[in-house]
Amino acid sequence: MDRYAVIGHPVAHSKSPRIHAAFAQQTAQTLHYEAIAVTPAELAATLQNLHQQGYRGLNVTLPHKVAVMALCTAVTDRARQAGAVNTLIRADDGWHGDNTDGEGFMRDLVRLGFAVTGRRVLVLGAGGAARGILEPLLRAQPAELVVSNRTPWKPEALAEAFKNLGRIRPCTHLALKGDRYDLIINATSAGHDGRMVRLPGQLLAAGGDCYDLSYGEAFAPFAAWARAQNAARIADGLGMLVEQAAAAFERWRGVRPDTAPVIALLRA
Ligand code: ATR
Repeated sequence: MDRYAVIGHPVAHSKSPRIHAAFAQQTAQTLHYEAIAVTPAELAATLQNLHQQGYRGLNVTLPHKVAVMALCTAVTDRARQAGAVNTLIRADDGWHGDNTDGEGFMRDLVRLGFAVTGRRVLVLGAGGAARGILEPLLRAQPAELVVSNRTPWKPEALAEAFKNLGRIRPCTHLALKGDRYDLIINATSAGHDGRMVRLPGQLLAAGGDCYDLSYGEAFAPFAAWARAQNAARIADGLGMLVEQAAAAFERWRGVRPDTAPVIALLRA
């Protein structure tokens, strides 16, 4: 049977095995998908080992998304731009790396009806999660794309790294004072500590939407902030999780699964 896995550390609570099992059932594909705990020290040897064992594909999660790139024999342009790999495809010469996070994010925005084109868009945070969504955001041609962070250095580096694709205005959270945005995306990890980024006053324009790349308990602080901003619509990142998985599944199996029933299954 064709074998697939998600590798990460920790990985026991990953939803990927459930998601891919649901995709396989829905599309009548026969495959086995498991979660494998891999520490950073074990990463290179494990990748080689799984290749030798005949695994067809892997998903890569924290903390390996950046490190795995150097272990690929080829990498897609979008993974290189994102600076990270979340999907590995088996090839004769080793593992080929791709990144489906940005595609998954954009597909979720479309599914939700959150427009980007012509709107003022703010991304909170400038780490790996933020970097993964900047290419598709720029391609969707927002009126303005701002990336803010506690310190200016990381947003400035991102603006430089993406300047071939369009303009990103880097700034600190405090310098957002007085601005208004139509779409605010939380790409910080603050929610994982039960915190919300400290921001100056009203930032969301009337009718504006809020989206968090996190889901579950980590979503609560941003959701509360978004409600206080009178957001028209507020969404967590569970849809993105399923959409990035669907894009990986399609690369491996050549069939695109229907994401809506799987998102509903995870919410149930
Ligand atoms: P990820 O892969 O989740 O993006 P990361 O690369 O470590 O993780 O980036 C975490 C992001 O969340 C950073 O933008 C970080 O801001 P700093 O660069 O200023 O540290 C942000 N972040 C984490 N905790 C935060 C908090 N309590 N308040 C504000 N920003 C926070």
